[in-house]
Amino acid sequence: MPATVLIGAQWGDEGKGRVADWLAGQCDVMARYAGGDNAGHTVKVGEREFKLHLVPSGVVHPGVRCVLGSGMVINPLRLVEELDMLAGQGVDVSPERIHLSVRAHVITPGHLALDGASERARGSSSIGTTRRGIGPAYMDKAARTGLLTGQMRDPDEFAAQVKASLEGANALLTRLYGLEPVDAEGLAAQYGAAAARLAPYLADTTTLLHDLLGQGQRLLCEGAQGTLLDLDHGHYPYVTSSSATVGGALTGLGIGPQQITRVVGVAKAYCTRVGNGPFPTELFDETGERLRNAGHEYGTTTGRPRRCGWLDAVALRYAARVNGLTELVITKLDVLSGLDELKIAVAYQRGDQQLTALPLFTPDYESVCPVYETLPGWHEDISAVRRFDELPLNAQHYLRRIEALVGVPIRMVSVGPEREQAIELVW
Ligand code: IMP
Repeated sequence: MPATVLIGAQWGDEGKGRVADWLAGQCDVMARYAGGDNAGHTVKVGEREFKLHLVPSGVVHPGVRCVLGSGMVINPLRLVEELDMLAGQGVDVSPERIHLSVRAHVITPGHLALDGASERARGSSSIGTTRRGIGPAYMDKAARTGLLTGQMRDPDEFAAQVKASLEGANALLTRLYGLEPVDAEGLAAQYGAAAARLAPYLADTTTLLHDLLGQGQRLLCEGAQGTLLDLDHGHYPYVTSSSATVGGALTGLGIGPQQITRVVGVAKAYCTRVGNGPFPTELFDETGERLRNAGHEYGTTTGRPRRCGWLDAVALRYAARVNGLTELVITKLDVLSGLDELKIAVAYQRGDQQLTALPLFTPDYESVCPVYETLPGWHEDISAVRRFDELPLNAQHYLRRIEALVGVPIRMVSVGPEREQAIELVW
C-alpha cells in the first residue's frame, strides 16, 4: 500500500487535518503537495491543539517524516514561526524528520501586498482570498520569475534576490495600484535571516520520496483546500491558484500514478465555503446560522465566518470522479443532531432541465437551483457513539444515502473534534 492521497471533496475546511492525523498511524511519511499557508489544519491531541498551516499534520506523530513538496508556495517567515510554535509545544522539528523541497516557490511580502491590492481592485467581484500572497506567488511561478526555496541555501544571495523581487513588486504597487511601497531593504534582511534558519531543512524531496517508496515506506499525500477550489477543476475564478485535486499530488511531489492505491475524499456532513463564488445549497436562514454556531464555522486562517448549507451530492459525485475517490470520510456528523429534517441536493434545476452533473462554467450557476431530497433527522447526542450500528437509525440512513448518491463507500465518520470521536466502518 504505497501512497494514499487525502483530498478535500468540497470547498476546503472539511477536516482533513484530523483525518490525516487518523491516517498517520498507517503511514511512515506525510507530504503536502500544493498551496501554502492559506491552509489551516487543526489537530487535537488530548488537551493539546495544534494549528498547522504549512507543516503536514503528521508532525504530531513522533515516527512520521514530513515533506513540504515542490508544488507548495512557502512564506519563509511563517514557516519559521510554525516550526518555533511546534517546538514550543514539544514537537520534534529537527531537519532529520522535516524536509522542505528545493523546488517549492517563495511567497514574498510583495506577493502579500499584491494579493490585497488586486482583491481591493476587484471590488464587489473579489475572490475573497486569504490574502496570504498565494495567487501572486503562483503567478510568478507561471511567469518563470519566481524565487525557489532552494535559493535559501545562500541566505545573503537570497536576501539580495528577495530585495530585487520586492523592488519589482513595488513598481506595481505604486504605479498600478497607487499604494505605498513595501520596505524592500528591511524585509529582505528578515527573509535572509529566515533562510539561514530554514537552509538545513532543504532537500531534493522528489528523490527522497522515490527512495522511501522504494524501501516500501507508506506515503500519505496531504491535500489542502478542496476539489471545488482547484485551479482547473473548481469554480474559476473563485478558486485558489494550485491543484487541490489528485493530479496535484503527482505534479507537486513528482511521483507516478501507479504509486497511488487509495484516494480518500473528506467531506463535511453538510457544506461550508469561505470566500466568494457559487454555493447552490447555501442557507441564509436560521438553519444556516445554527450550522455555523454548532459547527464553529469560522476560518482557521482568517477567522472569517463560513457560509453554510446543506450537503450537495452533485458536487460530491463530481469530486468522486475528478479524483477517483476510493473511499469517503464524513466529518462533523454530530453537528446535524437536533434537526427535524435534513436535505441533500441530488440534482440542480435549470429551467425545465434537471442536471445531475455539476455545471463547470461558473456563470451557469446564476440560473440553477438545487433539487432536494428530504430525510428525517435525529435528536440524540451522538458524540459518544463509536460504532455505526449504535448511531440513531436516521443517522445511519443519512450516511447510507450519501454512499448511494455518490457511489463511494464511507470509511470513517467523525462525531466530535477529539481524536477518538470517530466511527470506523468495517467493509
Ligand atoms: P487564496 O488561496 O488565498 O488565493 O484564496 C482563494 C479562495 O480559496 C478563497 O475563496 C479562499 O477563501 C479559498 N481558500 C484558500 N485556502 C483555503 C482553505 O484552506 N480552506 C478553505 N478555503 C480556502
